[in-house]
Parts: sequence; C-alpha cells; structure tokens
Amino acid sequence: MSTRYDAAGDRPAAFRLYGPRFQTRPAELYRQMRAQYGPVAPVLLDGDIPAWLVIGYRELHHVLSHPEVFARSSRRWNAWDRVPEDWPLRPMVMRTPTVLYSEGEEHRRRAAAIGDALAGADQHEVRQYAVQAADRLIDGFCTATKADLRADYAARLPAVVLGRLYGLDREHAEVLADAMTTMIDSGPDAVRAQQFLLKTMGELVAARRKRPGADVVSRMIGHPAALRDEELIPDLVVVLGGGHQPTTEWLGNTLRLMLTDDRFAASLTGARRSVREALTEVLWEDTPTQNYLGRYAVHDIELGGQLIRAGDLLLLGLAGANSDPRINPDPDAPTGRGNQAYLSFSHGDHRCPYPAQELAEIIVTAGVEVLLDRLPDVELAVGVDELRWRPSPWMRGLVALPVVFTPVPPTGGQ
Ligand code: HEM
Repeated sequence: MSTRYDAAGDRPAAFRLYGPRFQTRPAELYRQMRAQYGPVAPVLLDGDIPAWLVIGYRELHHVLSHPEVFARSSRRWNAWDRVPEDWPLRPMVMRTPTVLYSEGEEHRRRAAAIGDALAGADQHEVRQYAVQAADRLIDGFCTATKADLRADYAARLPAVVLGRLYGLDREHAEVLADAMTTMIDSGPDAVRAQQFLLKTMGELVAARRKRPGADVVSRMIGHPAALRDEELIPDLVVVLGGGHQPTTEWLGNTLRLMLTDDRFAASLTGARRSVREALTEVLWEDTPTQNYLGRYAVHDIELGGQLIRAGDLLLLGLAGANSDPRINPDPDAPTGRGNQAYLSFSHGDHRCPYPAQELAEIIVTAGVEVLLDRLPDVELAVGVDELRWRPSPWMRGLVALPVVFTPVPPTGGQ
C-alpha cells in the first residue's frame, strides 16, 4: 500500500482546484494530475482545504459502487474544524437534511419519491413545455440580429420547464433560476440565495398541501414515502437546482459544439440525425458536472495507490474519469459517439435519477431543435477562440455564447 500523500496531514504539493486554470483547458490539468499522482490526486479547495480528486474511471466507478465505504454524508468529514464560517463552498458541504446527504434506507425512501414524482411527468407534455418555453424565449430576441444563447436561452430554459413541472408560472421560475445560479456559483451571496430557495419552496409546499395538482410537488407530497416538510422542502430545492444548472450547461455546450464543429454544422440546415450525437459527445468531452462534491471515507482505505484516511473528502472527477486513457487510449479521438458509458450522471445509489436524465435530454433536445428551426442561419458572432469558459472547477459551461442571425418574426406563443 502506498502512503505517498495523506489528505489529512501535510503534503508536499497538491493541485489547487480553483482559479483561472479551469477557464482554459481543464483536460490538460487532469492529464497533469494523472501523470503526477495517478488516478487519485490530492487537491486543495478554496482556502487550501484538502481533498482527493478521483479521476481514474475504474477507481471512480469503485467509489460510486461502494457507498458503505465511500459514504455521502458530510457529517463524517474530518476537516470541519478547518472550514471558516464564510467558506464559499459551504452550501456544497452543509449538512442540510436533503436526499443528497442521506444514506441507506432513508436515502432509498427519499430517492424513490423523487424518482417516481419525476417519472410521473408525461414525456410528451414535458416536450411540449420545453418547445413552448423555447419558442417564448426565442421570441424575446428573434427580431434583433444577435443574442447571447447562454444568458438569453440556455440559462433560462431548464428552469422554466422545471418550474412548469412544479406548477409554477414563468416569472417565478426565472427568479428561482437566478437564485440557483448565485448559489451554485459559490460567491459571497451563495448562502443567502440558498435560504431564499428554501423559503420559496416552503411556500409552494404549503400551497400544494392545501390544493394538490398534477405536478411534481403534489406527487412528492402524495407519495407513499410520506415525506415531512423538513424533507420535502430541501429535496425540492435539490431537484430544481440540481436539475437546472447542469441542464443549462448541457444545452449551452451542445449548441457550442454544433456551432463550432464542422462535423455537426450540417445539422444547422435541417438534418436532425446528429443532435443526439452532439448531446452524447458533450457528455464525454465537456460534461456539465465536471467535478462533484463528494464522498467521505468511512474508514482508512487504499485507493489508486493512495492511503485515504477515515473522514477524508473524495471529489468525483467525472470529466477526468471520462477522459481516462485506460478507457480511451487515443486522446485525439472523440470518445463518446455511440457509447454511453460516461460517468457524467454519476453511478450507483446516488446517481442522477433515470427519470431526471430523461427529462434533461428532452429539454436539451427540444432546446437545440427549436432554436435551429427558428433561426436556421444562426452562427457564432465571435471567433471560436474568443469563447470563454467559466472559471468553476465544478460546472463546465460558457461565460457567453454570442450569435448572429437573420431576424425572424416572433411566434407569439404562450
Ligand atoms: C431535469 C434535469 C435534472 C434533474 C431533475 C436532476 C436531479 C438530480 C437529483 C435529484 C440528484 C440527487 C440524487 C441522489 O442523491 O439520490 C441528482 C444527482 C446528480 N445529477 Fe442530476 N438532475 C438533472 C440533470 C442532470 C444533468 C444534465 C447532469 C449532467 C449531465 C446531472 C448530473 C448529476 C450528477 C453528477 C449527480 C450526482 C450524483 C452523485 O452524487 O453521485 N443531472 N440529479
């Protein structure tokens, strides 16, 4: 067993998992980490809080398949005493009573309520919501000659659709979307945004308990799991926030790929065959959730040549694992087409629920198709090298996606 590095103690060097390097080419960073440390790399989070980043495909799969050893609840963390009150990542580790941090039987119960409530949505209806919402958003900019497809489109569409599935109107869904982005960006207002979301969900639950409808919130309330408000409210924030942000980046990154890569350019003039391929390729190459926090070791254990101590924090290196040369020996060949073995939705008990994955795919597909139908000559307004990625080590998404097009009349749809 190798004991080269110990996340709980002093270490010679570790990669900082913050700063502008994530704005350029994180893939290179993962390659360097792999070369220096192997499949499990010591990293430092904001404030130099230590953790392990699991970037080996096999090792990550192992971690995700063994929740009895790599558990979800942050109450096991051995570095709480090092975390300042105003730590920007606090919302990601806080012991909020959500499905994310629950374990065992409690997790099964809560995950079932979420999965069943999402599965209860009629897929044709979801697509209809997505098409309508996409049309309305495009109506907002189609008479101009340019737009930012991230801010004006991708960053709004999933929230509006999820809001409709919760039974919310469009304006409320947009306010929620802003709050979620603030929370996930982990800036100084993150904690306040999280509190706002909890309050808003509390009001929604109270309303649906009085008057249930055909929506996700009412189905979760009526589920045999008999969730109490203290469980329902934070889980509704998880579904909304956890659903909106990665679906935004999935849509934005897919539009970027289709607008910048000749292999997909043909589809801009009508061929639809490659939309699905583009979606899959993005999950391999620019997956929205590039790193995810995390799991906590239940006891000392060796993993990928490193000694992990009880209570150490392990981060899921989803993008790193997807690009592991052991599953894709040729770094220049696109990995993904035709094969869905990516870990982008994670794996195991806590993976993104299957009905959620399906919903996300419907939203992103509709988002791409409606845009190409409405603005058939849409193209990038800047050179591909001028597109900038956001500096987050967690989400992989663009700062902006500026495009130009020939103006078209609004549909005036509802
Ligand atoms: C409609 C859209 C979506 C919804 C409603 C949704 C919902 C959820 C929920 C409720 C969880 C928590 C599962 C648990 O702890 O038991 C989760 C986890 C997760 N989701 Fe999603 N999600 C959506 C879209 C996406 C997308 C587009 C991605 C990325 C491509 C993604 C990636 C993940 C990942 C990586 C996890 C973490 C699982 C873990 O800890 O192992 N999700 N999602």
